[in-house]
Amino acid sequence: MMEKYVLGIDLGTSAVKVSCLDKLGRIIDQEIEDYPIYNPAEGFSEQNPNDWVHATLVAVKKIMSKLKDLAKIDGISFSGQMHSLVILDKNKQVIRPAILWNDGRTANEADYINKNFGKEIVEITGNKATAGFTLPKLLWLQENEPDNFAKIRYFMMPKDYVRYKMTGKINMDYSDATGTIILDIAKNRWSNKILNFFNIPKYCCPTLVNSTDFVGFPLKEVCEQTGLNTDAKIFAGGGDNAVAAIGSGILNSQNLLCSIGTSGVVLADEQNPHTPYEGTLQMEHHAVAHHFYSMGVTLAAGESLSWFRDAFFPEKSFTDLLLMAQNSDLGSNKLFFTPYISGERTPYSDSYIRGSFTGISKILTKNDFCRAVIEGITYSLRDLISIYEQNNKTIEKIVCIGGGAKSKFWLKLQADVFGKKIVSLKNEQGPGIGAAMIAAMGCQWFKNWESCINLFVRYNDIIVPDQHNSVLYNKYYSLYKKIYSSTAPLARAAAEL
Ligand code: XUL
Repeated sequence: MMEKYVLGIDLGTSAVKVSCLDKLGRIIDQEIEDYPIYNPAEGFSEQNPNDWVHATLVAVKKIMSKLKDLAKIDGISFSGQMHSLVILDKNKQVIRPAILWNDGRTANEADYINKNFGKEIVEITGNKATAGFTLPKLLWLQENEPDNFAKIRYFMMPKDYVRYKMTGKINMDYSDATGTIILDIAKNRWSNKILNFFNIPKYCCPTLVNSTDFVGFPLKEVCEQTGLNTDAKIFAGGGDNAVAAIGSGILNSQNLLCSIGTSGVVLADEQNPHTPYEGTLQMEHHAVAHHFYSMGVTLAAGESLSWFRDAFFPEKSFTDLLLMAQNSDLGSNKLFFTPYISGERTPYSDSYIRGSFTGISKILTKNDFCRAVIEGITYSLRDLISIYEQNNKTIEKIVCIGGGAKSKFWLKLQADVFGKKIVSLKNEQGPGIGAAMIAAMGCQWFKNWESCINLFVRYNDIIVPDQHNSVLYNKYYSLYKKIYSSTAPLARAAAEL
């Protein structure tokens, strides 16, 4: 009998990773294709949507050519970078490059929304406006590129565009729709009040679907180009953090997820959208219907380490940098790094803040700088965990994924800095596994999410923090926290130079 597989397409910020899994949740094959990010001005971050499509189809083709006639794809689904604005005209052509989630140009528009729409923006959408979200980007276009704004017939998220190019159908799932801050999160529909107030035509908003909803079959030309079977069912998918949460078993649990990708994220499953966080944390629809999640975001987590490597050690790998960091000591000889190289979202919502090294002295070595970058990224994630602690959330343990979970050294450092039990995944692959799980649920391979999670998600042994190290890290962290308020006025003034 012919084997049936699912494909999980993880459309990230630096690359697309396509994973092929079987009915036992085993990874059969994986392909990664990169694409560029463009920074046309300081703080701007853009991509060409057709680069995503090209890279995805190349990766799918590579997988299909290895499967040959031995297997067919039963279902396909997606995980995608959130909030990044793609706009199409009436002929469904891309109008301009996509403006990404980590683009800081819309600080003024975010302030305008928060000031003029007041508390209502949090009441309706579950979120305060910040520069990365989609609504401020639409307002920026109204003001700065009115011709492009006037041409918009559809706006969507990156994975919605790739899915459209694969199926010919335009939709958006609820998990990505909450990230636009145009969705009424409790009523599950586009907010007329927000659309009217900000003069955004309702026809631009795609039809809303659940993450596991069937959207269509691959177009004939996509099948010809990739070798996909024409009866592969394509399901909507979700925003990367919701999908990563599924792939990490964060559903009905008291575990937090801590993910270090380009951004850094700490999130928790929530039963309803009314949380005590009042916009300090984001509130989003989960990729599982009737579930929500709260989340804090460090804009440049893995990206700070990539920047550091590219700027100072371009010849070294991340493994080399982590080895150098291990040759420094806890606290990096009193050198601190703040990872605000793209501004910061949670808890400061400040597009002007910039990163810093504080405490440079003659005794420091390059190893101390490496460790300080890794510690600084980890402290910024502790800022996010602290918000849950301040709101008395029970945290059983933290499931760590992404780049920070690939190294035993960084995993142990996370346990010590967070002062919490942590656990990593056996089949750590970022949100790709979650996307494959959505496809498996869409194909009705499982009766419920619990059985899907039990089979697909496997944990490694728990790592317990070292008490002595945690006490020391508490002291370093309390100093780290003061750097933001000391450097914020400088960063503001420097922005005006
Ligand atoms: C979440 C966010 C980032 C992106 C990364 O709000 O902005 O984590 O989803 O792709």
